[in-house]
Amino acid sequence: MKNDIAYTLVSEEEIDSTVTRIAAEIDRDYPDRSKGLLLLCILKGSVVFMGDLMKKIERPVEIDFMKVSSYGSGTSSSGKINIMLDLHRADMANLDVIVVEDIIDSGRTLSYLVDYLKLTGARSVKTCTMLDKPDRRVVNFEPDYVGKIIPDEFVVGYGLDYDEKYRTLPFIGVLKKEVYSH
Ligand code: IMP
Ligand code: MG
Repeated sequence: MKNDIAYTLVSEEEIDSTVTRIAAEIDRDYPDRSKGLLLLCILKGSVVFMGDLMKKIERPVEIDFMKVSSYGSGTSSSGKINIMLDLHRADMANLDVIVVEDIIDSGRTLSYLVDYLKLTGARSVKTCTMLDKPDRRVVNFEPDYVGKIIPDEFVVGYGLDYDEKYRTLPFIGVLKKEVYSH
């Protein structure tokens, strides 16, 4: 698996300090521990980031999951968002929601999800992403919490995949072009 990686973009150590920083920002921004806070993991890519982040947040949080698909296959987005697994909760009005994403590329997934979640009546909706590729944006979208801003490269590892592979790598690496260009 590692042979398909051109170079490491974010090391395990850098991931750890980045997640620690974001968790502290969330604890700072949601000081009232009696108010419900929901970390909403967007499957599947965000599952590793979510697992690390939730352990480092000191205040109580609830967790939940949605699954959406934006990429058909390969390395380019289809532009259409499908909800594959929805949220079914009656208590949204009592929750501040933080959507936890692995990476923002075009921005379509998160801008769609934020609009969708606001319609559920959530008390507030913010977004948190491990990686951001602002050069690739096709819709105007600014996340509230960002781990690392990265260049326009296709990356894998730490939950991120190419055709369902490489998610288990503990670091974030740039995939060799020859892996997906034929
Ligand atoms: P967006 O809707 O274009 O912002 O796409 C976000 C989704 O595309 C992410 O949740 C990922 O699943 C996928 N994606 C975008 N860039 C990459 C990448 O470099 N590696 C792996 N998946 C990516
Ligand atoms: Mg994803």
